[in-house]
Amino acid sequence: MPYMGNNMAEPRSILILYGSQSGNSEELAIQAGKMSSQSGLKPTVKAMDEIEVTELLTQQRVLVCCSTWGDGEQPDNAEDLWEAANSGAIENLDGVNFSVLALGDTSYDLFCESGKEWDRWFQSKGAIRVHERVDCDVDFEEPAGLWMAAVIPKMAAIEDVLVETTPPEENQQEIVVVNPEAPPLKKSEKSQWSAKNPYTSHLDQNYVLNGEGSGKETRHIVFNLGSSGLEYKAGDALGVIPVAPPDLVEDLLTASGFDGSEVVETHMGEMELRQALTSAFEIHRLSKKWVRGLGELLSTPEEVSIRIVSRTRSSTSDGTVLFEWEGTGVEDDIPIDYSEIGSATDPSVDLWNDLDQDDSKLEDYIWSRDYIDAMNDFGHVVSTPQQLVDGMDRLKPRLYSIASSPDHEPGTVHLTVGIVRYNHHDRDRTGLATGFLADRCDVGDSEIGIFMSPTRSFILPEDRSTDIIMVGPGTGIAPFRAYLQQRDIEGATGRNWLFFGDWTEEGEYYYKEEMDDWKARGVLTKHDLAWSRDGKEKVYVQHLMNKNGEEIWKWIEGGAYFYVCGDKSRMAKDVHKTLISICSEHGNMSDEEAHDYVENRMMKSEKRYLRDVY
Ligand SMILES: Cc1cc2nc3c(=O)[nH]c(=O)nc-3n(C[C@H](O)[C@H](O)[C@H](O)COP(=O)(O)OP(=O)(O)OC[C@H]3O[C@@H](n4cnc5c(N)ncnc54)[C@H](O)[C@@H]3O)c2cc1C
Ligand SMILES: Cc1cc2nc3c(=O)[nH]c(=O)nc-3n(C[C@H](O)[C@H](O)[C@H](O)COP(=O)(O)O)c2cc1C
Repeated sequence: MPYMGNNMAEPRSILILYGSQSGNSEELAIQAGKMSSQSGLKPTVKAMDEIEVTELLTQQRVLVCCSTWGDGEQPDNAEDLWEAANSGAIENLDGVNFSVLALGDTSYDLFCESGKEWDRWFQSKGAIRVHERVDCDVDFEEPAGLWMAAVIPKMAAIEDVLVETTPPEENQQEIVVVNPEAPPLKKSEKSQWSAKNPYTSHLDQNYVLNGEGSGKETRHIVFNLGSSGLEYKAGDALGVIPVAPPDLVEDLLTASGFDGSEVVETHMGEMELRQALTSAFEIHRLSKKWVRGLGELLSTPEEVSIRIVSRTRSSTSDGTVLFEWEGTGVEDDIPIDYSEIGSATDPSVDLWNDLDQDDSKLEDYIWSRDYIDAMNDFGHVVSTPQQLVDGMDRLKPRLYSIASSPDHEPGTVHLTVGIVRYNHHDRDRTGLATGFLADRCDVGDSEIGIFMSPTRSFILPEDRSTDIIMVGPGTGIAPFRAYLQQRDIEGATGRNWLFFGDWTEEGEYYYKEEMDDWKARGVLTKHDLAWSRDGKEKVYVQHLMNKNGEEIWKWIEGGAYFYVCGDKSRMAKDVHKTLISICSEHGNMSDEEAHDYVENRMMKSEKRYLRDVY
């Protein structure tokens, strides 16, 4: 039965929740906690995955700091709470005062969507919005600071109302008050380099890791940090700002009939069209919004009325005139035997109607096409440079898990990058960032904008004697190379077990020599390799986990951390299921208990099942 109403709130208490993937919202929540205690409140700062949704019923003051990930999605540590919030478990939050700080990036279509969702949800449950939601772009410090300065005094001014209702059973959790002694996070401690103000780096190395004959192209790419002052730790990711291929820009200008010097308005201000197509918009793939917008340009064809004014029929053999007719100009004066030829339709209008009416067709259409393909299909429908760029996706940075430890590779950042190449409609194409890195970033020369994306969760255990199990097939190996370098240089005594795999041993055994060396020196305690195309049967990492189930369980029972990195859509899901079944089988648990053990105990309470999946 849904719980109704509040209130069991501790006097002066305020709950500050954060949904955060790379730590920004978490940092701000901690800062808000500090400010709250300075204002005489008793703050509890918690990640969204540290509470049950029913705990909200016992609150009188709630602040939410939440970022948006993926394509307008909740960050990983907010997903479960969001699901629970929408499960009907809570009917109303009368008496709860709230405000939301939403973090995002205006480059994304669904700007600050998760924060907006929380804001709407609290309102829909009857909670009182004490201060308007603030949506922050990547330079979030200032607006976030203003939000705190405004909302915290309002929260502090709210009188405690202690109305007894039924407490939500065993879900009470210990209230953790943010340590008022904790040092405030100063802006100066953050790097000056960000997605909007990237550091211009150059490459020290850029080479293919694959063996001869491999069907893949995976590169080891090393960035020089120069005098940037950029710092990182094993587990962090690097942001890379790509630019479009110059030949694609020129081809698009030719196809659209512009010379590139025309000035257009963009989200980054006014600039020449050539510059906008190069660095402000993603021109290598169509956006849905742009295709939908064509409707307006296509749907206003001039209405043409045709009147027959004369008609002659001649013999095809000798040219003799068989019939001759001349009209008088009167409406119904038509030649004898005349019949309607029917209405002619424009195929591009038909195509557009088809796409507009069926979202899956539109998805299919944009999947393999860019703007040049669209010009081929729709003709010269775009008549101004502004129409060309309006509705295109804004160019976004790409993140890469760092494959090095700063202590092992000082002054540089190493990446393991899988290059995206494909051919559609007889043209070779690449992913935006991977094509840029592979084809146009030369060692020493090219200037590449980068910034750090630090993690607060995907980290090595503090206690160096803790064992770790790492599952990272394909480019998922990247952070584990960093971990192994770090554990090696620190002389960590905990055991290290790596599950790696890809298509073939010959073609895709990345960093084999380093792995052999770590094995020989006892750094890599156990190493299991899954090759899906080497034998008759496809072998994946989860199959090897299953084979080693008993031993994996022993490590886990002994406190080992369990890490997964790489493909989100399939691999991470299969590994998750396999881990649960191992715990069930070897830990003698029911399916339900094993789910609880993995998803609540390991993942949420003990935070030793950590994922970096994309
Ligand atoms: C936290 C994080 C860490 C990451 N770490 C790594 C890493 O260590 N190494 C790594 O390589 N990547 C990593 N990625 C992924 C990386 O950020 C990029 O998404 C990836 O490199 C592709 O970028 P791109 O610009 O080249 O491709 P995009 O231009 O973004 O295009 C990629 C898209 O192309 C589409 N596509 C692919 N094949 C085809 C095809 N045949 N036909 C049509 N469309 C197709 C797919 O929809 C795919 O989503 C990470 C991502 C995140 C979020
Ligand atoms: C892969 C990726 C996807 C993102 N998706 C969105 C999005 O859809 N909408 C948005 O407003 N911001 C998006 N962002 C921006 C983040 O919300 C922003 O960087 C935020 O500051 C991260 O805060 P956090 O560290 O608390 O997670 C995305 C960032 C990355 C790296």
